[in-house]
Amino acid sequence: MQRIVLSTLVMVGIFFSSTAVSQEVEKLYQRHCTACHGEKGDGNGPAAYLLSPKPRDFTSGIYKFRSTPSGSPPTDQDLLRTLKHGINGTSMPAWDRLSEKELTDVIKYVKSFSDIFEDKDAMEPPIKIVSPPQLTKKSVQAGKKVYKEMECSKCHGPRGKGDGPSSAKLKDDWDRPIRPYDFTRGPSLMKGGASSQDIYRTFMAGLDGTPMPSFIDELTEKKSWQLVHYIQSLSPSGTGSAAPKGTPTLHAVKVSTDPSLDSNAPVWKRSPATVVSLRPLWARDNWVDSVKVQVAVGPKMAAFRLEWRDLRKDDEVIRPQDFRDGVAIQFIPKVKPSDYVGIPFIGMGDDKDAVTIWHWKADWEADIKEGFRDVVQKYGVTMNQMLKQADRSSNKLNLAGRAAANPLSSSKHKAPIEVLAAKGFGTLTSQPAASQTVEGRGVWRNGVWVVVMRQPLDSGSALRQKTLPVAIAAWNGAAGDRNGQKSVSQWMELKIE
Ligand code: HEC
Ligand code: HEC
Repeated sequence: MQRIVLSTLVMVGIFFSSTAVSQEVEKLYQRHCTACHGEKGDGNGPAAYLLSPKPRDFTSGIYKFRSTPSGSPPTDQDLLRTLKHGINGTSMPAWDRLSEKELTDVIKYVKSFSDIFEDKDAMEPPIKIVSPPQLTKKSVQAGKKVYKEMECSKCHGPRGKGDGPSSAKLKDDWDRPIRPYDFTRGPSLMKGGASSQDIYRTFMAGLDGTPMPSFIDELTEKKSWQLVHYIQSLSPSGTGSAAPKGTPTLHAVKVSTDPSLDSNAPVWKRSPATVVSLRPLWARDNWVDSVKVQVAVGPKMAAFRLEWRDLRKDDEVIRPQDFRDGVAIQFIPKVKPSDYVGIPFIGMGDDKDAVTIWHWKADWEADIKEGFRDVVQKYGVTMNQMLKQADRSSNKLNLAGRAAANPLSSSKHKAPIEVLAAKGFGTLTSQPAASQTVEGRGVWRNGVWVVVMRQPLDSGSALRQKTLPVAIAAWNGAAGDRNGQKSVSQWMELKIE
């Protein structure tokens, strides 16, 4: 009797421990992947409506980024590469902050959505890729001929600009319009990776689920590398957007005097700058692909300086087709640093981990400056004098704020920043007046925005912690960005020491 009980207990123990593991993995998938790929892996997560291209439907068993021949499922190594790097130019983030074990587990989970991975006949060995020969003028010229011969231009265009005769009509397997890659943007935005070997793999294996074919039966080894070199030659050196690198850590500098709103203040020469890559939720040509971030913490104030390229200033929202530029910082104030990798999708937090958002808006800034102008005229001071005084002021409201509060001023806004909070999709709400304590200033010059935002370090401030999760979002009005149509970073750790 006793023995039976014991062995049942052992069995129960085994049973529990194996489900505990899979529950763990399921939780991992749910936290990180469901918002986009859906609980059932069908690509219909709550955020999917915001995204283009759409998240992969894992139940289809169709994968773009494979080292295996067309029609064959990807290897675990392929999936690992995709997860570690993310998919450039799309919303699919890099998961380099997950451990190797977590990545392997989540890959197993993703594979369980489709039985293509159990079909031993479908599994073909990866295409062999040797190390690439040297690019020469001659190999580029030869590659140009191969490009013509293979009719890459039909889709990618005679000059590789992605504008070939077939380009406008192309659809993917899910009947959604799809564009051939524009090689003049450089290889860094290629979804399947930017190295010579990556480009080689892309056209040898093809991108399943898209019109991009496999050329393995048509190309010799030699011609393939020539083609790679020709494609590389189309990229204008020094331009093209930077591909997202690994997730950086932000470091704040501690300063003895509180940082001002002046974006040229000496403190910004001393504090470390981090270039943070952003991904477009809705893919298009001119999203904000990176923001340079600096953080300074004084005795009573914490400030962020954000700088990014934007060729057109959009700070007037008058006609319905006008959209403003903007930038936002997201915090998760109540998360322990150890939990930070486990934070839910950047979207908007969830009911457990509420996010706080500081959203700077170019049109609010313009409105305040407009109100300013009235005051400047009335008192005969220059705008610069006013701004300087604003920086020295210990008043909680900056002068822009005071100008707005001034009865002479016509501005509706006290500061160009709105403080919001969210607990998951569709819960974004503006905070009450008492919480609107973030002041700021944005300056656009020669195609660059620089925005400084700061907040008093009162008892409730998240910036009193030693470390906390931070993410950045940006909107380009000229690209029609608004609300969820924006580009976003992955969560980063901000260290304040
Ligand atoms: C913000 C949305 C988003 C999140 C979160 C996200 N993905 Fe994706 N994922 C995408 C999009 C969009 C694509 C499709 C890109 C394309 O087709 O060009 C994609 C594609 C993929 C692919 C297909 C690669 C291929 O070869 O076709 C895999 C695998 C994948 N995601 C795994 C994951 C896993 C695992 C997680 C969670 C750890 C995750 N994704 C989280 C948006 C997301
Ligand atoms: C029938 C149309 C078509 C033809 C022909 C074609 N491509 Fe493509 N190609 C595409 C499409 C569509 C994409 C974009 C797929 C995506 O974004 O998911 C693409 C993407 C690419 C990419 C970028 C993949 C990435 O990582 O983002 C490369 C490199 C490429 N093609 C090379 C070639 C070469 C070289 C040839 C000729 C040997 C060729 N293509 C012929 C349609 C085509």
